[in-house]
Amino acid sequence: MSEYLLEVKNLCKTFPIKGGLLGREVGAVRAVNEVSFKIKKGETLGLVGESGCGKTTLGRSILRLIEPTSGEVLFKGKDIVNYSPSEMRAIRRKMQIIFQDPYASLNPRMTIGDILSEPMDIHELHTGKEERKARLLKLLSQVQLPPDALNKYPHEFSGGQRQRICIARALAVEPEFIVCDEPVSALDVSVQAQVVNLLMDLQKELGLTYLFIAHDLKVVEYISNRVAVMYLGNMVEVAESSELYGDAKHPYTKALFSAIPHPTTEGRHDRIILEGDIPSPMNPPKGCHFNPRCWNAKDVCRETFPTQTHHSDTHMYRCYNPISK
Ligand SMILES: Nc1ncnc2c1ncn2[C@@H]1O[C@H](COP(=O)(O)OP(=O)(O)O)[C@@H](O)[C@H]1O
Ligand SMILES: [Mg+2]
Repeated sequence: MSEYLLEVKNLCKTFPIKGGLLGREVGAVRAVNEVSFKIKKGETLGLVGESGCGKTTLGRSILRLIEPTSGEVLFKGKDIVNYSPSEMRAIRRKMQIIFQDPYASLNPRMTIGDILSEPMDIHELHTGKEERKARLLKLLSQVQLPPDALNKYPHEFSGGQRQRICIARALAVEPEFIVCDEPVSALDVSVQAQVVNLLMDLQKELGLTYLFIAHDLKVVEYISNRVAVMYLGNMVEVAESSELYGDAKHPYTKALFSAIPHPTTEGRHDRIILEGDIPSPMNPPKGCHFNPRCWNAKDVCRETFPTQTHHSDTHMYRCYNPISK
């Protein structure tokens, strides 16, 4: 078997834009455009990029919570894009998601015990009464919540505790792969580190594989083995975390990472401020989508969409005029 748990090949997701009185299709948003990457078992791939660049759409398309327009998603070597609903149900257990907003994603009328039992019922796991109770208590202890949480309701918990409940709910079905969609962005800074550390501990303990979406680059560097950068639906660079910070090739990556203070560059830190707005994904610029904001753009960048350059086994970028070290 391949060493990769997940392989995404040329994944695209286009949303139709409807308008006018008749609701006719007047355009389309290419939210995810020909994205390819792989994640090894036990690895964390970070995914960063400005708001609206397609991170959530990519994460949800991989799990088929929204249907990809084209492309392949290989989970343990098998393309799940064409799986039937019953095949999908079986695999869904293995692929879970944790959402950004722990307030919106828990039903306020259900107790924590019911919230954690529901996915086990759907997948017919731990059906005996004693076995189920033991499983619920194990889940709570895994996310460091007390046993008496079982009979309480979501409103009785803080944001950080609610996100722990969401993590426990994802773990309830014994997943192997979890999409973490900005899981700490809505939390107070003081509890963000606790939740990130919990996710890292669980990963070690349970051998989990993560796609970790975030816009906080410090968090991403901390948790990720490798980081992928998206711009306007495209994956423009992927590399090991340390390499992206020190040796980014794509000017967009360079600009993004220059915005954060870093121990190795402290004191001699040149922050790059990008000019202009993010173009509309409905009508992306010709050539490299980043070219109108790029200080390094050449003629070819305004004409042709860049192909992938493999700088090393682990470092890929799409740019005709990369940053030299
Ligand atoms: N259901 C939808 N219908 C139409 N457009 C959508 C839909 N969901 C997302 N989009 C568009 O797709 C693009 C990517 O969105 P999203 O994946 O949410 O980005 P991110 O998570 O990086 O902020 C945005 O331009 C957004 O407006
Ligand atoms: Mg998002």
